[in-house]
Amino acid sequence: MRLAHCHNFHDFRKLAKRRLPGPIFNYIDGAADDEVTYRRNTESFERCDLVPNVLRGVEAVDLSVTVMGQKLALPFYCSPTALQRLFHHQGERAVAAAAANMGTLFGVSSLGTVSLEELRKKHSTPQVYQFYFHKDRELNKAMMQRAKEAGIDVMMLTVDSITGGNRERDLRTGFTIPFRLNLSGLLQFAAKPAWGINYMTHEKFRLPQLDEHVDMGGGVMSIGRYFTEMLDPSMDWDDVAEMVQLWDGQFCLKGVMSVEDAIRAADIGCTGIILSNHGGRQLDGSRSPFDHLAEIVDAVGDRIDVMMDGGVQRGTHILKALSMGAKAVGVGRYYLFPLSAAGQAGVERALDLMKTELERDMRLMGCRSVSELSRDNLRFR
Ligand code: LAC
Repeated sequence: MRLAHCHNFHDFRKLAKRRLPGPIFNYIDGAADDEVTYRRNTESFERCDLVPNVLRGVEAVDLSVTVMGQKLALPFYCSPTALQRLFHHQGERAVAAAAANMGTLFGVSSLGTVSLEELRKKHSTPQVYQFYFHKDRELNKAMMQRAKEAGIDVMMLTVDSITGGNRERDLRTGFTIPFRLNLSGLLQFAAKPAWGINYMTHEKFRLPQLDEHVDMGGGVMSIGRYFTEMLDPSMDWDDVAEMVQLWDGQFCLKGVMSVEDAIRAADIGCTGIILSNHGGRQLDGSRSPFDHLAEIVDAVGDRIDVMMDGGVQRGTHILKALSMGAKAVGVGRYYLFPLSAAGQAGVERALDLMKTELERDMRLMGCRSVSELSRDNLRFR
């Protein structure tokens, strides 16, 4: 299969699986425990039907939205994800360029492999910085200051990863950074020599958001240890309120699920929340964001921007979330598989296919702009 023959998420996933060593593919594709939440994220869209209107004059369709003060040409964005140069040597550079070409927002992870400054300088499209809260409060301040100076538009604090999720696929292969592969993991790398050659002949692996602040000990500090030793499980609402004050700009929490927490986020001055269960990678059995969206929008939708991510594979999934009241929708694996399969060309194709699907689906729904979508267009079975 070639990139030109990829028409949807499943095709990109298949191509990525062919190209990536098993441990890396399974790191992206896998989730926590029995992966129930991972499956349910997509299934929840399938339990909801669209009710279209006809004869509405839908020649021109406007997909633009404004979210957290950012005007986007599309109602979806590339969520921040870790370690992208491990999936394809272009990594974050490919994703940022594709997002910028499409006029949408992209996120850079604390565990990103290209510096946030480099990406900010190269592209003018809105850029989010995904942040973890460290035990060292001075480090948090220094990292926020650095993001501010770089011109980051939106600060996004991940709050659903207070401890690492139980990713059993990674335990089986020994996937950690740096690699501590077991025999089966090593054999799986040996089976994909093209990936290995590509990896070895490009820029050395780095985590530039962190290694200027944290001694990664020449690669000794693993991501697992970073989570357990550097991040602060005592983080609470007061800590976050202080961060919001300090940032003094667009600030959202990623991974809020309860109405109570959504209200608290608004109370401490957050400008947005993202309903998310981290793609099913943290707490298995947790509710899918789409199933819970209406409750959250009803509680805080008039105070802050509500977004969601998780399980989004189709234009119709995005239309359903927007109809329910989401201001924008994040995608993760949806762009990571095409990145892994074909770098920037892959991400561009995936984003473009999604845009085409959305335009077609909006016409079929009888809607000319995102603001015309409403709950009248939805029925749960
Ligand atoms: C993950 C973290 C790094 O899901 O966001 O793997």
